[in-house]
Amino acid sequence: MAGKSICCLVASPRRDGNSSLLAAALAEGAAAAGHSVETLFVDDFVTGFLRDCRTCRGADKTCSIDDRYGELLQRHILPADAVAIATPIYWYGLPAQLKCVFDRLVCYTSRSHPEAERVVSGLGGKRYALLLASEESSYGMSVGIVQQVSDFCRYTHAALVAMLNAVGNRRGEIARDPSGPLVQARRIGRDMFALRATDYRIDTPRSSTVWPREVTS
Ligand SMILES: Cc1cc2nc3c(=O)[nH]c(=O)nc-3n(C[C@H](O)[C@H](O)[C@H](O)COP(=O)(O)O)c2cc1C
Repeated sequence: MAGKSICCLVASPRRDGNSSLLAAALAEGAAAAGHSVETLFVDDFVTGFLRDCRTCRGADKTCSIDDRYGELLQRHILPADAVAIATPIYWYGLPAQLKCVFDRLVCYTSRSHPEAERVVSGLGGKRYALLLASEESSYGMSVGIVQQVSDFCRYTHAALVAMLNAVGNRRGEIARDPSGPLVQARRIGRDMFALRATDYRIDTPRSSTVWPREVTS
């Protein structure tokens, strides 16, 4: 597969933490497969919450919050073929800075925004991977995050193609998680554009066989 581009968003403020380890492993796998990866820390770009767009927008109808969100969205997220999100779980949900990445789309996708058409079409059709780091291992803890990202993908005609939850608390501790999340993250980076991503409707024409017969593992 020809080299594609991945924008990897790290949502932890810890530069040397578990999310950034997951991001580095994903980037390694992707680079080995010939893809290019840009790894960015969300809080280098996003420092302001969504406000009331009606009063906040400038006269030209663009966002007036004075941070680098617009740059993150327009120069990095939109042009990428895929987006990987490496994030800690905070209080059983997304860290606020990552939630903001989604919330603030409302301004850029609103019909009055001068770039809305480009933003909406740029968001469409991407592949997403979700790499979570958490202290606890309960499955239920990630459900809210997976649900949000998965519905966001459906809404934007994108696909959530991979997800993992690495367990660890101290910086770098996930490297000792026996489930091998760093190996998994490398594999996800490598296979980002090959992973199966289906979301059928009742009338979707399809074969009853999922995998070709020669594939056994
Ligand atoms: C504000 C905050 C909230 C947290 N909430 C949870 C939680 O709800 N469940 C959990 O398992 N771990 C929780 N943790 C632990 C982190 O998810 C865990 O340490 C993770 O590995 C940190 O990733 P990082 O090194 O990329 O920051 C929390 C940590 C912080 C700082």
